[in-house]
Amino acid sequence: MKSVILYYSRTGKTRFLAEKFQQELGGDLVEIRDLKKRKGPFGFLRGARDAHLGLNTEVAPSGFDLSKYELIILGTPVWASSPTPALNTFLQTCNLMDKKVILFVTSRGTGYRRAIDILKGKVEAKGGKVVGVGSVKTWLRGKKYLFRAGVELTKLWKTDIS
Ligand SMILES: Cc1cc2nc3c(=O)[nH]c(=O)nc-3n(C[C@H](O)[C@H](O)[C@H](O)COP(=O)(O)O)c2cc1C
Repeated sequence: MKSVILYYSRTGKTRFLAEKFQQELGGDLVEIRDLKKRKGPFGFLRGARDAHLGLNTEVAPSGFDLSKYELIILGTPVWASSPTPALNTFLQTCNLMDKKVILFVTSRGTGYRRAIDILKGKVEAKGGKVVGVGSVKTWLRGKKYLFRAGVELTKLWKTDIS
């Protein structure tokens, strides 16, 4: 099954997992970059506000073509118990008709269920079918922990998609 992992990451935790998933599952790996400044205290506050309001942003690449893929794996940090603006934008512009979708989020450990529910709703509105989800708490967690979480999640997903 041809697959692609698309993710947004501000500080590298979601990226680390996305790279681990690619090692385990193969397929393509694409970083969705947010072109708005998200660094520093103001970047943090604006990010939380934009995510809370469900806003979009400018991303690169924009208009990514998913036609050759059967399985789409989407990853985002949780911001203000919501998906990030970068993922909102991606989900508004993509076509997921009849695609299998796996969603994964990273967070300090709060609001991830709400974020996953919002993501699910957006995927289904675009015609996609969510076949797997994953949530990883990253607060005070090192790379060893993230590595193991990546292995465990891919084991689960392999049964979800087989
Ligand atoms: C603007 C902003 C808002 C956040 N809001 C939450 C939140 O509501 N709940 C939570 O558990 N973590 C929250 N976090 C923490 C991130 O979700 C967490 O650190 C994540 O793993 C970072 O992923 P990244 O390294 O890929 O950017 C927030 C982080 C930022 C920058």
